[in-house]
Amino acid sequence: MENQPHLKAIDLRRSFQIGPRKVDVLKGIDLEIRRGESVFLCGASGAGKTTLLYTLAGLEQPESGQVIFEGDVLYAQGDAAEARRRNQRIGFVFQGYFLLPELTAFENVLLPCMIAGESKGTSRDRVEAILEKVGLADRLHHLPAELSGGEQQRVAIARSLMNDPSILFADEPTGNLDSKTGAAIVELLLSVVREKERTLVVVTHDPNLALRGERRLEIQDGKIVG
Ligand SMILES: Nc1ncnc2c1ncn2[C@@H]1O[C@H](COP(=O)(O)OP(=O)(O)OP(=O)(O)O)[C@@H](O)[C@H]1O
Ligand SMILES: [Mg+2]
Repeated sequence: MENQPHLKAIDLRRSFQIGPRKVDVLKGIDLEIRRGESVFLCGASGAGKTTLLYTLAGLEQPESGQVIFEGDVLYAQGDAAEARRRNQRIGFVFQGYFLLPELTAFENVLLPCMIAGESKGTSRDRVEAILEKVGLADRLHHLPAELSGGEQQRVAIARSLMNDPSILFADEPTGNLDSKTGAAIVELLLSVVREKERTLVVVTHDPNLALRGERRLEIQDGKIVG
């Protein structure tokens, strides 16, 4: 158990049909990530970084190949069981935040607990504590439109941590931010994973940020290189 990788991908393949043309995006991806490791995944725009991250996180099934997470094969169970796994064991920070615009910071972060069936009373203190941890104690009741890009990203990170996942995926978490705010977001991600020995997989096209992780992978022509 201890020696097995936290996340393992075996020969992942995925293509998209665009009109008459079939585009192969993942052409046989193999990788192993240890528990507690911080991995930065780089690659050109359109190289397949988001596709790979979704596949690894249980959000999109590959055409062939396997993802093994904590010893379990992903996509092997029914939809309800896979949804529960995503809600409770996997954290995801989406490219472009994906906050619900009509909900406050507090309510956006509360959402995963409501989905998990917790009462609002039980989760309230935890939501406040986690928003405080990401530096938003005085922004609890702001709507996303009333927050800066860096603050919205902090809300998205807080939301991804609510159910205490063992692995955190982040897709271009600094993509829309200036370099100083972006560097602070990466430091925040690294600190929240270190604290509980979580595993971190971050997609970025910024090679300077990628140097902050323990390992850098690059996706090129549908495969992992280097
Ligand atoms: N749902 C889809 N339908 C058709 N093609 C898709 C779909 N999703 C992705 N693709 C194609 O797959 C390729 C890889 O897309 P992906 O979003 O994974 O790239 P990316 O590396 O994350 O790019 P970026 O850095 O711009 O976010 C692109 O050529 C894209 O057009
Ligand atoms: Mg992308």
